[in-house]
Amino acid sequence: MFKQQYEEYLRLVEQYLDDLPFEKNLICQSMNYSLLGGGKRVRPVLALACVELVGGRPEDFVREAAALELLHTYSLIHDDLPSMDNDDFRRGKLANHKVFGEAAAILTGDALLTYSFELLAQSLAIPSDRQLRVIRETAQAAGWQGMIGGQILDTLGNGQENTLSSIKLIHEKKTGALLIASARLGAILGGGTEIEIVKISEYASFLGLAFQIKDDILDISGESEVLGKSLGSDEKLAKATYTSILGIEGAKDHLYKTITSAKEIIGYFGTSAEFLSSLADYIAERNS
Ligand code: IPE
Ligand code: IPE
Ligand code: MG
Ligand code: MG
Ligand code: MG
Repeated sequence: MFKQQYEEYLRLVEQYLDDLPFEKNLICQSMNYSLLGGGKRVRPVLALACVELVGGRPEDFVREAAALELLHTYSLIHDDLPSMDNDDFRRGKLANHKVFGEAAAILTGDALLTYSFELLAQSLAIPSDRQLRVIRETAQAAGWQGMIGGQILDTLGNGQENTLSSIKLIHEKKTGALLIASARLGAILGGGTEIEIVKISEYASFLGLAFQIKDDILDISGESEVLGKSLGSDEKLAKATYTSILGIEGAKDHLYKTITSAKEIIGYFGTSAEFLSSLADYIAERNS
């Protein structure tokens, strides 16, 4: 049931991404290269599931969900650059900068970021107060208060020794913020009540933290073929990770506690929350 519903959301998103009106020039080829043919699409899937949870129609908000994938893909291209994590593989193929060069990779990230907001601003069918709220919240989550705020701490540190709470903050910002924004985007566009939006955000904040804890675990114990990226990147760069401070078993323990909290909160919605509850399990158990 979970797999079937995931596939259904995936189909909507993949179709939309495939049909984007890209031209045959270098920047569009490079955007297509990173965007298509890989990726779990967790952010758009989460957004569409939250639309449905609050009683909206997922089909009506595929453009907005897909915009989140553009935004996320930009962050991956920049994250892999030599000046950042210096990783050569992404989504089972060479990282963007290894194929198109660094300058094009930087510009491709810029183009995906800006285009994602163009897509968010495009729809005429959404009440403008909801649309504006989504654009503002997504911008906040992507920028210095959110993902970029986390990426700078991850990359340059804060000048102090890492503690569990400083690592939690990095994870909440670099990864959690966009996952929370994705869930909220779905809940807001789908017409959720303020209480529903709050519950969904609380769920997504645990989900986002869990997502990055699992990412840290996979960097040590995953299989690079399945993962589609190189292993050991965090250790090589002495990154602040849950595994570096708690060890693998400690990090796994923390992961399951975080997942349990996410599932408890989403239980507020009763049986309609089955998909999101299974999504939390999927995130803990994923191998890629
Ligand atoms: C990887 O994200 C980077 C993080 C924020 C942890 P995903 O694990 O969602 O990567 P894709 O989109 O499936 O490739
Ligand atoms: C990435 O975190 C976070 C963002 C891209 C915002 P990581 O650097 O751990 O992601 P991977 O492991 O390279 O996918
Ligand atoms: Mg990184
Ligand atoms: Mg990285
Ligand atoms: Mg990682």
